Amino acid sequence: MSRRVRKAVFPVAGMGTRFLPATKTMPKEMLPVVDKPLIQYAVEEASDAGIDHFIFITGRGKQPLLDHFDHMPELEALLKERGNVTILNSLLRAKPQPGTIYSTRQQQPLGLGHAVWCARAFIGDEPFAVLLPDDLVQASSPCIGQLMDVHRETGGNVVAVENVALEDTSKYGILDVVEDDGRLARAKGLVEKPASSDAPSTMAIIGRYVLEPGIFDALERVQRGSGGEIQLTDAMNHMIGTTPMHGLRYEGRRYDCGDKVGFLEANVSYALRRPEMRARVERMLEDILSGLRE
Ligand code: UTP
Repeated sequence: MSRRVRKAVFPVAGMGTRFLPATKTMPKEMLPVVDKPLIQYAVEEASDAGIDHFIFITGRGKQPLLDHFDHMPELEALLKERGNVTILNSLLRAKPQPGTIYSTRQQQPLGLGHAVWCARAFIGDEPFAVLLPDDLVQASSPCIGQLMDVHRETGGNVVAVENVALEDTSKYGILDVVEDDGRLARAKGLVEKPASSDAPSTMAIIGRYVLEPGIFDALERVQRGSGGEIQLTDAMNHMIGTTPMHGLRYEGRRYDCGDKVGFLEANVSYALRRPEMRARVERMLEDILSGLRE
């Protein structure tokens, strides 16, 4: 039985170049899916899984992410005065308890591994969660909570995985699998962004992790890897042999909101799930498609 995961790290220091010019002055993680920014989905997922301390690894221009979780007295008073309870409650939900949000800066975007390493003093010596807000996971039970349940049994590092097309392995960290029961796979190695010809499998890591604190030593030992960045995958790979490494085929559906089409797909899918929007969105999609066919 492993120690409980209480803390989550949100690496949000990336440059978001795929969304320029939208992300020139606005953090990518503030992009909304319907009416909620990506960062809020990620914080709510962690909170619903029982996590109660949240650290943001920020960088230049990322202040709106912290402001988003703060009080806005004028706006709250106005909504109260107008009796707009639904919107007021949606605002208040974006406010974790005082003293539970922390931030530190990654002065240079040296990669995801480096961003996680920046959280070392905050995490100390306990297992912790990492959530990448641009991977949005729609699930009946929080994806990170599913990993925490596995971690309680297996210990070690646990990542969320899904099978991707062979031509897409070069976009992901890929597992070299030694045992697989169809749900949970144990890895004997990990490769960051392999070409399809070198990929040991098509089992790809998505942006949800439960990590042992030994990752910080491993991150200090790894060299800059793919793209000149310090890769989290390389550090997890270093730990195999001394630390179990599992990939969970989580239950749910991921949207890659770091990619334009993935982001649009998330917006359409989340809107279709809102009863008050569904009929209008269906009509809108039909109109657009029939307009294109004319
Ligand atoms: P991405 O690989 O999507 O990079 O980062 P990016 O810079 O955000 O976006 P593009 O590719 O230029 O469009 C995945 C996650 O890791 C964080 C990002 O903020 C995002 O949440 N990240 C990445 C960091 O915090 N620091 C880094 O140095 C790199």
